[in-house]
Amino acid sequence: MQMVMLLAPLVSLLLAPIGNLPTFAAQIAPIIYRSCTPCHREGEVAPFGLETYPQVKRFASMIKLTTSRRFMPPWKAIAGHGEFVGERTLSSAEIKTIGDWVDNGAPSGDLSQAPKPPKFAAGWQLGTPDLVVEVPTSFEVPADGPDILQNFVIPTSLTADKVVGAIELRPGNPKVVHHALVFLDSNGAARKLDEKTKEPGYQSFGGPGFFPTGSLGGWAPGGTPVWLPDGVGRYFQKGSDIVLQLHYHPTGKAESDRSKIGIYFSRKPVTRLVGGIALENWEIKIPAGEKKYRRASSYVLPKEATFLSVTPHMHLLGREMKADATLPDGKKIPLVWIKEWDFRWQDTFVFKSPIRLPKGTKLEMYSVHDNSDEISTNPFTPPREIFYGEGSNDEMSLCIFEITTEHIPDLLELIADDGRHRKVLERAIELTKKGGG
Ligand code: HEC
Repeated sequence: MQMVMLLAPLVSLLLAPIGNLPTFAAQIAPIIYRSCTPCHREGEVAPFGLETYPQVKRFASMIKLTTSRRFMPPWKAIAGHGEFVGERTLSSAEIKTIGDWVDNGAPSGDLSQAPKPPKFAAGWQLGTPDLVVEVPTSFEVPADGPDILQNFVIPTSLTADKVVGAIELRPGNPKVVHHALVFLDSNGAARKLDEKTKEPGYQSFGGPGFFPTGSLGGWAPGGTPVWLPDGVGRYFQKGSDIVLQLHYHPTGKAESDRSKIGIYFSRKPVTRLVGGIALENWEIKIPAGEKKYRRASSYVLPKEATFLSVTPHMHLLGREMKADATLPDGKKIPLVWIKEWDFRWQDTFVFKSPIRLPKGTKLEMYSVHDNSDEISTNPFTPPREIFYGEGSNDEMSLCIFEITTEHIPDLLELIADDGRHRKVLERAIELTKKGGG
């Protein structure tokens, strides 16, 4: 009896490949609907829909190519090096199933048995927000040219300080919006930058061009907005302006966008606030033609902290970024590893379980930039020497972490410590500018 039960699954496994070539209805639709359709549907960021059998069949050979190279679904973090919410990856078995299906002529199978394409909630995914803010006027995105990072300054009329538990971006035109970061400014610094330009908002390419007094988090297409863990919130000081940084990728057609953000205040009592610290290297001077330009940065935590997310950031010449933590006892904890950086798919990676790191933990990061003419995103042919900066032709080596601490004063101390780094940074920028011209 025991034997038979053990053998039965084995036998069916051995027989499976013969009678069971993959079909759209049985094996492919579930993979596509889960991993592709959130972006590949009408009015979304991807250039064509993958919602029906004919659509998927039409793109079959490209689907095989882009999945086997792990170019689609776009997810740049290496599996197993950090575990994240909403990971968009296919298993090797799924990639093979897609390949076999395409090689076998992409058969439909019994479509009456196929799962239905997913339905996506129209409107706000997390319900009615407590506060909705909208970019004051539409922004015109040209048909082509480089990607644009536009910072929109949106005044708010909050009369009391608030704690925010979640945000949701509703792109006015999802075809062009590639990702969003939401900063707070209580010093009027962003307004001043905005006043200098004629268009709505102002451009930058790295940070928002000033030192934000807070952050409400980020958004990327194809994901579902998430609440911060219970008891954790983001401080929103009354009177602050929201600075919404939108990353536009031109589509070949002129487009216009006016996006909205929904803000959800914390529903449960909050004992922990979110703050940001960063590992950064500002001494960037990449010789023309250099293929593997490596920079590194490290920091020893002076207090215990719990890590919520990681946001690696480089510009067009970035190739690789890796961050790890080494505990005081020597144990290594992987944080994130991107081997094929793609400026268009920069994400904030939210850890599946927040990572608590004790005082004395060493955080380390390194980055690799490629300034050869072999990299298609190089803004210059022939390549030129590249310096640190926030412009689209400058480079950065920055890894931002969102953290909380058990006691709020510890958080302030950590951020202030990072602030001291920033002061050094400002001096470093001045120096690189003088040196680099
Ligand atoms: C997060 C959004 C997103 C998800 C998820 C996604 N795609 Fe895409 N896809 C895009 C965008 C945007 C483009 C346009 C090219 C670009 O911007 O990189 C694209 C382009 C493509 C292309 C054309 C590539 C080319 O070279 O022109 C194929 C094929 C494709 N996707 C297949 C898939 C498949 C198959 C899946 C699921 C396994 C998937 N995509 C998941 C956003 C997505």
